[in-house]
Amino acid sequence: MSDTVQLKIDDKTYELPVVKGTEDELAIDITKLRDLTGYVTLDIGYKNTGATKSAITFLDGEVGILKYRGYPIEQLAEKSSFLEVAYLLIYGDLPTADQIGNFQKQINHHTLVHEDMKKFFDGFPSDSHPMGQLTTLVSSLSAFYPDSLKPIQTAQDVNNTIIKLLAKMTTIVSWIYKKSMGHPVIYPQNKYDYVTNFLHMTFGQRTEEVTIDPVIVDAMNVLLILHADHEQNCSTSTVRIVGSSESNLYSSVSAGISALWGPLHGGANQAVIEMLEKIKEDGGDTDKWINKAKDKNDPFRLMGFGHRVYKNFDPRAKIIKKACDDILEKLGIDDEVLNIAKRLEEVALKDPYFIERKLYPNVDFYSGIIYRALGFPTDMFTVLFALGRLPGWIAQWKEMKENKEPIGRPRQIYVGAVDRDYVPIDKR
Ligand code: SDX
Repeated sequence: MSDTVQLKIDDKTYELPVVKGTEDELAIDITKLRDLTGYVTLDIGYKNTGATKSAITFLDGEVGILKYRGYPIEQLAEKSSFLEVAYLLIYGDLPTADQIGNFQKQINHHTLVHEDMKKFFDGFPSDSHPMGQLTTLVSSLSAFYPDSLKPIQTAQDVNNTIIKLLAKMTTIVSWIYKKSMGHPVIYPQNKYDYVTNFLHMTFGQRTEEVTIDPVIVDAMNVLLILHADHEQNCSTSTVRIVGSSESNLYSSVSAGISALWGPLHGGANQAVIEMLEKIKEDGGDTDKWINKAKDKNDPFRLMGFGHRVYKNFDPRAKIIKKACDDILEKLGIDDEVLNIAKRLEEVALKDPYFIERKLYPNVDFYSGIIYRALGFPTDMFTVLFALGRLPGWIAQWKEMKENKEPIGRPRQIYVGAVDRDYVPIDKR
């Protein structure tokens, strides 16, 4: 393989360097293209454009591979814990027993939020969408912890903010849930691990000690691990580009939460359940809804199907589908929408429309069914996606800072009006 490629424009030929990654991915480095040729590239939606070099997550959409720092997602989902995976993504290696113990201790020390934050919680209408609350509350953390705004951030300053954000996210997410239910909030307790503490703040009660079913703790760990990072997806790219302006971590992650909210991205897990419920109410006729999804004149899309990168199966969907069966059986739940989901998948995977377009179930197709089985309301699903994706956003933001990447500033091709003179309003 040559380490350069040639680009011929008119009678001139240009040599552009080739970049090869550790998993043999290949890229043409166009950093100097405009200076050399006066041309920019155009790739609306960035389907063919690499924005960075990253050592965090590798995925191969053609064969359905996903690895965090070189570890296959299947092994991490089966053997690791979410906090351990968070440590792996952020610091680069699996922690020793002392390292994870210290990490948990640091986080426990910061799980409380400033009591004045409660005024924000109280200010939201009780039926306001949890994602709108989450993006606001996370951004407000810079007001309570102004050290994150210091222009010169030492590695210790950055790590302090990372620990605070990881710790307070569980409290903020669980309190959003409690407020939506009209229940009193539950404070964190240091005797619990990260995920158990979150579940206790979410499902615990003031009036009695609640024991969280280990089945639910295990399922939550798997779901959060599967959502922890996914290289340069829409919300992660948002976090990176906001952070590239030297905006603080809280505001960068708040922007990522807003990007994740969209139904084409993280909001799909809520949209899937709403779709399955609609099909169930409509009598469960999966063929009718598959045909609607195929009809170009019908805006309906099969939510939870298709992916910008996975053009074979999404390895996370496979793991979640199996976890679905296990958890519903262990909890003794027979959820009709799971049967509808399985029928949809079965029909779609045999249909030429979906086969030709390489549309398969993605991470969002089955996750909502588990969240519902664990007791979460539908509009909390994307907030749970954000809780899972937080370590990935942090790791990617940290890598961008450590690599001293420049402020992100894409170019464009202008296609608007040319050379017009101003006309006074009485002459228009
Ligand atoms: C996530 O990027 C990530 O890594 C994201 C994520 C992560 O972990 O961060 O994996 C999480 O966002 C998963 C995706 C969740 N979104 C959904 O489930 C929403 C439904 N899916 C689609 O909207 C769509 O598949 C996208 C947005 C996910 C991908 O869109 P693409 O790759 O740009 O595909 P496309 O829009 O170019 O569609 C190609 C063709 C089109 O038909 P034609 O014009 O060729 O005839 O496939 C069709 C589309 O109409 N198509 C669908 C479809 N998805 C694509 N048709 C019906 N149902 C669908 N779901």
